[in-house]
Amino acid sequence: MERLKDKVIMVTGAGGGIGSASVERFVAEGATVVAADLFEQGVRDLAGRLGARVVPTAIDIADEDSFRSVIDATMEQFGRLDVLFNNAALTDRDIQHRDTTAAEVPLEVWNRTLAVNLTGYLIGCRHAIPRMLAQGSGSIINMASNGALAGDSVRTAYCTSKAAVVALTKNIATQYGKKGIRCNAILPGPVITETFRKVAPELEPMLKRHALTPELGVPEDIAGLAAYLAADESRYMTGQALSMDGGLSAHHPHYADFEDYLAGLAPAADT
Ligand SMILES: NC(=O)c1ccc[n+]([C@@H]2O[C@H](COP(=O)([O-])OP(=O)(O)OC[C@H]3O[C@@H](n4cnc5c(N)ncnc54)[C@H](O)[C@@H]3O)[C@@H](O)[C@H]2O)c1
Repeated sequence: MERLKDKVIMVTGAGGGIGSASVERFVAEGATVVAADLFEQGVRDLAGRLGARVVPTAIDIADEDSFRSVIDATMEQFGRLDVLFNNAALTDRDIQHRDTTAAEVPLEVWNRTLAVNLTGYLIGCRHAIPRMLAQGSGSIINMASNGALAGDSVRTAYCTSKAAVVALTKNIATQYGKKGIRCNAILPGPVITETFRKVAPELEPMLKRHALTPELGVPEDIAGLAAYLAADESRYMTGQALSMDGGLSAHHPHYADFEDYLAGLAPAADT
């Protein structure tokens, strides 16, 4: 399938996990991809593996000059930007472990998280939108999380940033929809990436117990949804917050306990 033939797509956070898998999927569907990341070696390796239709680029999405210059370079090289996939986020172990409760999260962690996960997305949008307006079309995909939908015991800054990304998405969809720009958010549940395995591998069995699907997600699952949102096939979809979380946000909080309870009620099998 070549749904993305001739499209120019920029992906942030392309150096690992979901970003890398998305670049791979976009290229497989015919796109040329500007793969941008703070972790430059990651995108260089990816380009080495996937070939000339991947342009590896260093970026710090929280730095407006850095983001602007990557978009400028994309326009100079290709003359258009069809899709911006705002996917990068602060996922490193140290920040995640210090991102605790509302009363205790250090302001420095809060501010840095919002600067990257939220302001970084606004910066990308505000420099992509004029280009997309000029060409009369564009699709912006913002990476949120199902952490945007419900309270958690920790990760106050991360979850708040992701909820705000959903609000940003709906505002952009409303403001620019009639001018041909669509904007949607993806809300993954747990996705098993290298980072996930480094930060909190012990959580995998617990999360799996609460999912409605037999397995937790992998980056390629999210990449498939991103490819759909990038393609013209999704032209009637905008302003949406799309969960892809194994049904974690679809059921009552007591689901897994209730399953155990029902299993306890089952009559003993005849021997
Ligand atoms: N993996 C999950 O379980 C999960 C669940 C929900 C949402 N998400 C979201 O998916 C996205 C991708 O996460 P992932 O799991 O693939 O993690 P990852 O750690 O593999 O990827 C994140 C990438 O962002 C890059 N990055 C960090 N700060 C940056 C900056 N300032 N500028 C540019 N790049 C920067 C990192 O170098 C890294 O390559 C994130 O937005 C994350 O919040 C992930």
